Amino acid sequence: MLPSKVKLVEVGPRDGLQNEKQIVPTATKIELIERLADAGLRAIEATSFVSPKWVPQMEDNSAVMLGIKRHPGTGYPVLTPNLQGFNAAVQAGATEVAIFGSASESFSRKNINCSIAESLKRFEPIVSAASELEIPVRGYVSCVVGCPYEGAIAPEQAASVARTLFDMGCYEVSLGDTIGVGYPASIQRMIEACTRVVPIAKLAGHYHDTYGMAIANIHASLQLGMAVFDSSIAGLGGCPYAKGASGNVATEDVVYLLDGLGIETGIDLLSLVEVGAWISAKLGRSNKSRVGQALRSEAE
Ligand code: HMG
Ligand code: MG
Repeated sequence: MLPSKVKLVEVGPRDGLQNEKQIVPTATKIELIERLADAGLRAIEATSFVSPKWVPQMEDNSAVMLGIKRHPGTGYPVLTPNLQGFNAAVQAGATEVAIFGSASESFSRKNINCSIAESLKRFEPIVSAASELEIPVRGYVSCVVGCPYEGAIAPEQAASVARTLFDMGCYEVSLGDTIGVGYPASIQRMIEACTRVVPIAKLAGHYHDTYGMAIANIHASLQLGMAVFDSSIAGLGGCPYAKGASGNVATEDVVYLLDGLGIETGIDLLSLVEVGAWISAKLGRSNKSRVGQALRSEAE
């Protein structure tokens, strides 16, 4: 049985824009977030409070958080790799944060400059500070099926990190196929390992579309009862520490799939397509959403 409702977490303003070479004006980031909320997205990852030496594109994190007009009922989570980032995020008015670990030792070192075990230790004070402030914390596990440095990753490895994040107090754990190498069978094996230790209702799918498998992977995940997915408007993005990885699955494509399956999202596809076309033009990029391209050419 497929879920009747799905929650989409829009990660374009963070996962999408973090990989843009040219610095995107803060005003464009703010407008993007507001347009996404207007199209019906109720969870929009707005920015990240990481080191600007590592990801210069996110340096205006506080200005973005302070600049957005918040839509009632919409969450604007931000990434926080350490307590320094968490404190800055709270100062800028963040009411939800995300910590991000990895199932691959090498990727952990490249991305956050520490081992998996060190990262998990570093997350503990964030989760306890957040709990005091009643700030919900989402957890990410990167490289759940494959790593750009280590190749295939065992499902048990992803499950073990997911379990630690969940046991630590994350309300949801998002499973990241960072380099988009997964396919339905490998994604299902990984989810099955994770659901042995974390309930499916607490897991989300975060699939990059490098090999064009992300929509198939979402369909395979829906079949296992997963009901939360991360996606990026116009398929923007990639990870700066995973060379060659392309953007997340496009939000427009996911909404088209879910509409077709009769699964409720609360998102208006045509408005979303306009947002995708607008941001692609602003960035001077081709629109990576196939649905966005198709619906725009029909309208012309
Ligand atoms: P480090 O160099 O080991 O940190 O980086 P440090 O604690 O030694 O500090 C070094 C300097 O950074 C100091 O400044 C700190 O103040 C500063 P200095 O004294 O040299 O002037 N610093 C900070 N500044 C601002 N905000 C902070 C912060 N922390 C330290 N929070 C660190 C360790 C984790 C900070 C670094 O590696 C980092 O920022 N990494 C983030 C990389 C990143 O953002 N990657 C992309 C996001 S993850 C992703 O895309 C995957 C995901 O989408 C899921 C998937 O697809 O799989 C989530
Ligand atoms: Mg990602």
